[in-house]
Amino acid sequence: MEYKNSILDLIGNTPLIKLNKINKGLKPQIFAKLESANPGGSVKDRIGYSMILDAEKRGILKPNGTIIEATSGNTGIGLALTASVKGYKCIFVCTEKVSSEKINYLKALGSEVIVVPNSYEPDHPDYYVNVAKRISNETPDSFFAYQYSNPSNPETHYQTTGPEIWRQTEGKITHFVSSIGTGGTISGTGKFLKEKNPNIKIIGADPLGSIFKHYKETGEIIKGTPYLVEGIGQDCLPENVHFQYIDKIINISDKESFAAARRLTKEEGIFCGGSTGTIVHVALEISKDLSEDDVVVFIVCDTGERYLSKGHNVEWLKDNRMLDMEIKILSDISDAKKRKGKEEIVYVHDTILVRDAIKIMNEKGFSYIPVLNEFMRPVGSLRESRLITKVHGNKNLLDVFVKDVMEESFLVIDAKANLNEVRKALTDAHAILVSDFGRITDIITRYDLIDYE
Ligand SMILES: Cc1ncc(COP(=O)(O)O)c(C=O)c1O
Repeated sequence: MEYKNSILDLIGNTPLIKLNKINKGLKPQIFAKLESANPGGSVKDRIGYSMILDAEKRGILKPNGTIIEATSGNTGIGLALTASVKGYKCIFVCTEKVSSEKINYLKALGSEVIVVPNSYEPDHPDYYVNVAKRISNETPDSFFAYQYSNPSNPETHYQTTGPEIWRQTEGKITHFVSSIGTGGTISGTGKFLKEKNPNIKIIGADPLGSIFKHYKETGEIIKGTPYLVEGIGQDCLPENVHFQYIDKIINISDKESFAAARRLTKEEGIFCGGSTGTIVHVALEISKDLSEDDVVVFIVCDTGERYLSKGHNVEWLKDNRMLDMEIKILSDISDAKKRKGKEEIVYVHDTILVRDAIKIMNEKGFSYIPVLNEFMRPVGSLRESRLITKVHGNKNLLDVFVKDVMEESFLVIDAKANLNEVRKALTDAHAILVSDFGRITDIITRYDLIDYE
């Protein structure tokens, strides 16, 4: 009889698929590493299996134990797949951003799923990773997989994904393109490939709004801003991102990512999610400068079936202004600023002293600055020229709180607003604030609009 002992025997050894159409006019051969062919439909089946095996070996996961993880869905599915075969319970914490398909898939595998808002920042107790940690502390016989720093995450890609690609390309690979979520795929595969041939270029595909590119280039950790693509990019630095194996990181907008995912699906029949769109867009971009001798391999992280209600749904794309590349929206201006390296919104809190606020405005070179309260809600604004005039007339003002001298807040406009709305607002005001998923993410001045247009 010919059979597998369990579904877990199907994990890994995924095929390479050659691109034939969307790479028209490009010289190198480009191959998709089809991680969506894993039994749970994503690259994360590999680490779901290996993290559980490793925890069993180390004695931290015992029979009838409970596996807990913070996940954008795929790692949860990978863990739940192995857990269902081995008889463990699972509790997963996701944010509201995770597609209903992934959440329902987790529930179908018998897992408990807790969904928390997407707006919390990493230092907030209700940030999804912190909630998972808390549940793990409170649950007896639990194992917190913690893919962001669990060494068996990159290790499994070092042991499996890297060698597979090396073997499948007969050592001819010259460029490897992957997204960076936990960093496991790029770090483990990158390390293996670099050890085989240090000339192989490892390229990270990162959503605009994630902090990785800026960190790689400057060593600075900035505040991330929200984006729609799921599972990749971060607003903090996971230990499993090993930057020494990454040569370059390229930022891609949501619009570009979803458009590329749809092209890969429609023209090559490779049904994929948004993060693969980010990656394939980068693979095609870098290939413009490569030759016939180059061999590019990129990761297909997961299947598009996971996003039938989102990135592969025309209504959702329309609602999120992702469909028409011609219609410009407010977040396009923010994206253009980010591409130029202006990443972080500068603000002051209403409870600091005026002298400190003036210092910040001076140092950063801003003549307008928003004032936010402790909940990061806009409550006022400062204009350097008016503030200096006031202080000039009364030096005592230097030692009062910002809230006692601030002017009214800038208008807050949703990141998805049409540029007509933005133009109108900026005829009456010098600056507006951008709100994305309930977070204030940017300040746009008349100058930014002119610069963009
Ligand atoms: C859809 C999707 N793509 C890509 C990734 C990134 O892979 P890695 O965590 O290995 O960096 C993830 C990670 O969660 C993901 O969910």
